[in-house]
Amino acid sequence: MNDYFGYAGKTAVVTGAASGMGKALTEILVDLGAQVYALDRVEPPVPGVAKAILADLGSKDSIDLAFAQIPAQIDAFFGVAGISGVHNSFLDTITVNFIANKYVTDAYLVDRIVEGGSLTFVSSNGGLRWETPAIREELAQFTRADSWDDLVRATQEFETGFGAVQGSMGYILSKRLLNFWVAEQVGPLSNLRKIRINATLPALTVSGMLPEFTEMKGGEDAVNADLGPAGRLAESAEMAKVLAFLGSDLASYVSGAHLSVDFGANAMQIAGLQPDRLGWTLRDVLSRQPTA
Ligand SMILES: NC(=O)c1ccc[n+]([C@@H]2O[C@H](COP(=O)([O-])OP(=O)(O)OC[C@H]3O[C@@H](n4cnc5c(N)ncnc54)[C@H](O)[C@@H]3O)[C@@H](O)[C@H]2O)c1
Repeated sequence: MNDYFGYAGKTAVVTGAASGMGKALTEILVDLGAQVYALDRVEPPVPGVAKAILADLGSKDSIDLAFAQIPAQIDAFFGVAGISGVHNSFLDTITVNFIANKYVTDAYLVDRIVEGGSLTFVSSNGGLRWETPAIREELAQFTRADSWDDLVRATQEFETGFGAVQGSMGYILSKRLLNFWVAEQVGPLSNLRKIRINATLPALTVSGMLPEFTEMKGGEDAVNADLGPAGRLAESAEMAKVLAFLGSDLASYVSGAHLSVDFGANAMQIAGLQPDRLGWTLRDVLSRQPTA
């Protein structure tokens, strides 16, 4: 039988491996024969991983300690970890969801990902419309910042302009940033060693994060009234299967993809068949709100 995925014997790193999509992905990769380095702030409970690594992606020092335990050659990296922002500050949300992924890539992955390897990040349908000119312009001030400290400073300066900004706004911004930055990295990573970079944009999914998203959306009734064409929530394993595909040899000509895994909800919005509620800039929305 052919190993179409090509994970057997390969080194894969998964962040957010203790719960939801990251845990489901880790189980699949272990099953497909990968040596998985499973990173999370809590112990990843998946048997058969090469190493479980406890690390806080909100801390640069903790990331550095984690990568000291990860091999010098990585075939596939999956940046799955994230926080909803519902009970997190604006800065913490941007840090875990965007700054950490950019830092890990710049500081470690550009050196360690092998020729033809892959980077796959979990973004969100909440980060859609990142490519519209007004939103892209808002994002560029962040992706222009290079280092961890510069990104923290850019985030703090943005927030200061509006008083305290909710973490849930940070969620939208962080996922838009991730999408924009993934597109920006296609050329440099291809030039480096034909490395592929992609993102999945999940719809609402049953995972550890669901209670916080349910709270954000105003309760279960509001969630059930807005299930989209699938008529149900996604399961974490359905997100993990798409991640396993994008990081694998099956997707060898796929780079720069922003794959909405939403049973067509975004397609219906683009076609004008459903209302599009995402075309706003943060600056516009925040400048209309009274400052906290
Ligand atoms: N669940 C959804 O409805 C949904 C929708 C769109 C996008 N997403 C995205 O999916 C990704 C996976 O989330 P999930 O839904 O599986 O939720 P989850 O809460 O089940 O899993 C997230 C994992 O990330 C880990 N994590 C969080 N902060 C961390 C930190 N500072 N350091 C290390 N690990 C940390 C958590 O411990 C957890 O294991 C996230 O990036 C999330 O933003 C989720």
